Amino acid sequence: MTNTTPNDSSSSENWLEQALAQALTKPLTHLINLENPLDFNGYIKAGGYMGATKALKEFSPKGVLELVSDSGLKGRGGAGFPTGMKWSCVPALQEKKISTDSPFNQNANEHENSYLICNGDEMEPGTFKDRYLLEGVPHQLIEAMIIASYTISANKAYIFLRGEYFLAAERLQHAIDEAYENKWLGENIQGTNYQLDLYLHTSAGRYICGEETALINALEGKRATPRAKPPFPQVSGLFGKPTVVNNVETLCNLPHILKHGSAWFKDLSPDSDPGTKMYAACGQVKNPGVWELPMGVTIRELLYDYAGGMKDGANLKGLLPGGASTDFLTEKHLDTPMDFDSIGKAGSRLGTGGLIVLGDKHCPVAMVLNLLQFFAQESCGWCTPCRDGTPWAVEILTRIEQGQGSHEDLTQLNELCDFMWLGKTHCALAPGAVEPLKSAMRYFKYDFEQHIEQGCCPIEANKQNHQEQLVSNKKEANHGE
Ligand SMILES: Cc1cc2nc3c(=O)[nH]c(=O)nc-3n(C[C@H](O)[C@H](O)[C@H](O)COP(=O)(O)O)c2cc1C
Ligand code: SF4
Repeated sequence: MTNTTPNDSSSSENWLEQALAQALTKPLTHLINLENPLDFNGYIKAGGYMGATKALKEFSPKGVLELVSDSGLKGRGGAGFPTGMKWSCVPALQEKKISTDSPFNQNANEHENSYLICNGDEMEPGTFKDRYLLEGVPHQLIEAMIIASYTISANKAYIFLRGEYFLAAERLQHAIDEAYENKWLGENIQGTNYQLDLYLHTSAGRYICGEETALINALEGKRATPRAKPPFPQVSGLFGKPTVVNNVETLCNLPHILKHGSAWFKDLSPDSDPGTKMYAACGQVKNPGVWELPMGVTIRELLYDYAGGMKDGANLKGLLPGGASTDFLTEKHLDTPMDFDSIGKAGSRLGTGGLIVLGDKHCPVAMVLNLLQFFAQESCGWCTPCRDGTPWAVEILTRIEQGQGSHEDLTQLNELCDFMWLGKTHCALAPGAVEPLKSAMRYFKYDFEQHIEQGCCPIEANKQNHQEQLVSNKKEANHGE
């Protein structure tokens, strides 16, 4: 899914016209241009910064909070926590400390002492939706962060960006510089008393830095281990101050909610969670990619209509619906809507909305082993179940995958899953690692048992048998000549 702005001005105007025609149905992506993202002037021409203008000039912070709460926006970082509810835990909003006056009359000091952090770490395997928004329309995120910072009384905001997103870093910094030049950042934003400084921070590069409290530690220059909660970051976060951490995609919805209202946002997906969703697909599909679609598109539509179906003549064996740390679903779930509740009822999580698809020509044991190797390497080592449990699971899975496992190994793997489950660790990395493992042992039990009973991977064995058959057919054919 790409969009390119032609160089000459007449075709550029055509492009803009076509893009704007999709503004109400594809709010997040209609202005995406991966090759040449809109600069400040282009973004303004396309209606950019209208949402922030409305927030600063027509709404009080409480008013924005009410609008966002009413829209029903849920966080797109994985857990689906309602954004308005998260913001409302910031003490300044709870204690009604913020003036409901126009921002022109407000004292700049009223906005001190909270922080907003945009989580752009995106290291979850199979997840690449935020990158698309960051590289394709960087001013959208800056506008969104002005709206969110204003609402939660933050004068300082940070974008915590995955270290490898070099292009996104370059484009974001350029857009931030343009926003300062045009008085959308810094002191007295657009003539109001509101002030915001926005900093780009690139991660040193660990998956755990995406967990919001580990991210805060990393931003403070400390080792990136998660913090015990409570206190939650909204009360005590960065440098001990109230802090809201929101995902890139979550934030990017804000300018559009401000511009078009909460009823429009709810109508984008009438039968499901509100809004659109950045869905993605990778693995054994013909056409891997990322698409903005109404929330609640079914798995079948996503897999067959957008990702082109299974590749290399494979049949669907299973899929992870929302990145590497979600439970497998199978063919019987194809008509499940991809929204938070429906995927939850089907036994998994919407997570990041990125399908990782497994075909029947690939080995589920090898796939789960690969994922567990990732989680074991990325464990921060704070909790025993995760630090010791993930490499232990790798050891057992390696044995099984190599055909040297036993049935007792399966029992032990199940026990390990219980040992690493929710409530037994400080963060969700270990339970996230359990999700694909436990569900694979349930849905693909036969494959695990075949490895043990045949002493090798049945798929590899099939491949070998097939090769041997070809050689023997050839020999027979030659003999016959
Ligand atoms: C191990 C781990 C990694 C995570 N990585 C990310 C990430 O890269 N991006 C993200 O937005 N959230 C990530 N999260 C979730 C964040 O902790 C947090 O819930 C999220 O940023 C909140 O944003 P939202 O309310 O807008 O969804 C991760 C969580 C865990 C446990
Ligand atoms: S679950 Fe793992 S990653 Fe999370 S705090 Fe514990 S050891 Fe660290």
